[in-house]
Amino acid sequence: MERVLTYIGHKGKMFPVFKEGLPKNLHEYTFIEAFSGSLGLSMELLEKGCVYKILANDLDKSVISFWECVKNNPKRLVECMHNLVAMHSTYLYRVSDKELRNMLEHTAKDKYSKAALFAFYKKLNEGRVHKAIGRIPDYGRWNYERAILTASKLLKDSKLKNGSYTDLGEYNNAKTFWYFDPPYKDYDNASYYDACRGEEFDHNKLYDFIKGLKGKFILSYNNSQYIKELYKDFFVYSIRVRTPYVKEGYIDELVISNYNLNIR
Ligand SMILES: C[S@@+](CC[C@H](N)C(=O)[O-])C[C@H]1O[C@@H](n2cnc3c(N)ncnc32)[C@H](O)[C@@H]1O
Repeated sequence: MERVLTYIGHKGKMFPVFKEGLPKNLHEYTFIEAFSGSLGLSMELLEKGCVYKILANDLDKSVISFWECVKNNPKRLVECMHNLVAMHSTYLYRVSDKELRNMLEHTAKDKYSKAALFAFYKKLNEGRVHKAIGRIPDYGRWNYERAILTASKLLKDSKLKNGSYTDLGEYNNAKTFWYFDPPYKDYDNASYYDACRGEEFDHNKLYDFIKGLKGKFILSYNNSQYIKELYKDFFVYSIRVRTPYVKEGYIDELVISNYNLNIR
């Protein structure tokens, strides 16, 4: 489905990989995307009717605030996006990261104009990754209006939560299905995710949390030997996925779960 938020690490592409292995009664579980970002997988699950509602959690306040705007008043958000485009046109794609962050913090007057700026900020981030590998970013084909209106309907019954995954302990029961897509091991996470600008992400702490889960989980990671070792008591699958963010056009990743996903 069309992306609402442009996000490095978007996991919509994982739906075909997980599809066969997902419980047929997934809608009977509380489905949690603990590191939401652009909600790549959740949006696919909602659109395909595998779940009717989700719990979306992210440590980044701007991410959850953006989704709140999408859910609660999509028309107002679209209007703010239109206004930004009209005011700045291609300028928005040429401003520096610092300028745009400054606009985000100081110029945006309310939650909706902040969310609109945040969406452009993320689009710009992606453009920078394309430029770094010698591609010309394509800013022309982004139908954010249709994407936002569709996503708003899909999120109608869902819950949004701003916090760390460590605060989700109350949902630890057999009827919760977890999807984790954390910041990757040994990556420059700070340049992609504001939530990672402070401390290094603690991969061992996440392991301890996941080890204690009573429900089912799927975890996505980069192809790291350290992570393979850490999760050696679980099902660990190596997969190759296409990505526009590296010159080769594909990347090797890990999918980890506590039940047989039947990935070949
Ligand atoms: C790889 S991205 C997730 C991308 C997402 N799967 C998608 O489809 O767009 C990782 C996300 O984790 C968030 N994050 C970082 N540390 C976190 C923490 N301790 N708890 C919850 N979210 C966190 C970041 O803000 C970022 O949005």
